[in-house]
Amino acid sequence: RHYRIAVIPGDGIGKEVVPEGLRALEAVSKRFGCTFAFDQFAFASCDYFLEHGVMMPDDWKDQIGGHDAIFFGAVGWPESVPDHVSLWGSLIQFRREFDQYVNLRPVKLMPGVPSPLAGREPGDIDFYVVRENTEGEYSSIGGRIFPGTEREVVVQETVMTRVGVDRILKFAFELAQRREKKHLTSATKSNGIAITMPYWDERVEDMARAYPDVRWDKYHIDILTAHFVQHPDWFDVVVASNLFGDILSDLGPACAGTIGIAPAANINPERDFPSLFEPVHGSAPDIAGQGIANPVGQIWSAALMLDHLGERQAASAIVAAIETVLAQPRLRTRDLGGPLGTVDCGAAIAQALLEA
Ligand code: NAI
Ligand code: MG
Repeated sequence: RHYRIAVIPGDGIGKEVVPEGLRALEAVSKRFGCTFAFDQFAFASCDYFLEHGVMMPDDWKDQIGGHDAIFFGAVGWPESVPDHVSLWGSLIQFRREFDQYVNLRPVKLMPGVPSPLAGREPGDIDFYVVRENTEGEYSSIGGRIFPGTEREVVVQETVMTRVGVDRILKFAFELAQRREKKHLTSATKSNGIAITMPYWDERVEDMARAYPDVRWDKYHIDILTAHFVQHPDWFDVVVASNLFGDILSDLGPACAGTIGIAPAANINPERDFPSLFEPVHGSAPDIAGQGIANPVGQIWSAALMLDHLGERQAASAIVAAIETVLAQPRLRTRDLGGPLGTVDCGAAIAQALLEA
């Protein structure tokens, strides 16, 4: 098992936490025998933009399209490049061109991470948000007429295709089937959005027949957000359209604590193209260059990448090593009240991986 990984650190703390992700992967390689070739790319960063006037070279797809996965840090440096330029010129291109239609975020309360939800212990919160990443409410179909007048009218359509809806549901049901609880929750709003959402519900019902061992339910998005906060222990795999998933995939990790530890995956399950793994956080200009960023989000992203590559044991080992380290106050970074910097925390996790 040899994997070619395109490594793109990007900007700010991306450049500090990505090496810690690679360190964990090197440790995995020693313990589980799989090997990696890490090809580093400097594009998809604001430094690259300042030098070349574009975020990526014309042949970026040829350069990274053949890799097994993309390991990404963070992009954005608003002081020198506007965010819509840096994000649209890089991350959004990856998602579209590589048809990464699944956005996956684990929501898990880790030891040592204070949950904003009172009285919650590790074990109470452990689920996935699966967001549709290519269609739905985020279409560019619509328009504005009589702009700037009293008669102004603005319309934007929601697009759901059978292929688009079924493929995200299939991914979510399969994920639920692999998990212990085998429970899927669908986010809907068919009481108010009376054309597209009933269609979504219909497709869920249809898909569920192929997974008789998966228990499923659905909630309207408004009460579902309340349940995330009040009953996070109810969930196992939560699947949602693009807009609802966008909201839930920020709310979920927020319920489980700090932004410094949350990982995300943008997945093309068919493997026609590489999938991309990244921490949820951005480039954090306010702390960049100080060596104090929490590397856990990046390292956890490496676990998601291994899971996608089929290295399930190695993926679980990384999550276990993160838990071991976070459980010890002296091994935490500053954002969690600990004394360690990025490199020392990363080294502690790599060490825990080798010692386990
Ligand atoms: P941010 O996530 O970079 O930072 C938000 C706050 O969280 C800051 O106070 C930061 O210091 C703290 N923080 C973030 N990651 C941390 C870590 N690993 N350890 C400790 N503290 C951490 O979000 P912000 O400030 O809104 O955006 C900064 C730049 O990043 C912008 O250019 C934005 O567009 C970009 N961005 C990029 C993303 C990506 O590459 N996927 C995602 C989010 C933002
Ligand atoms: Mg969002």
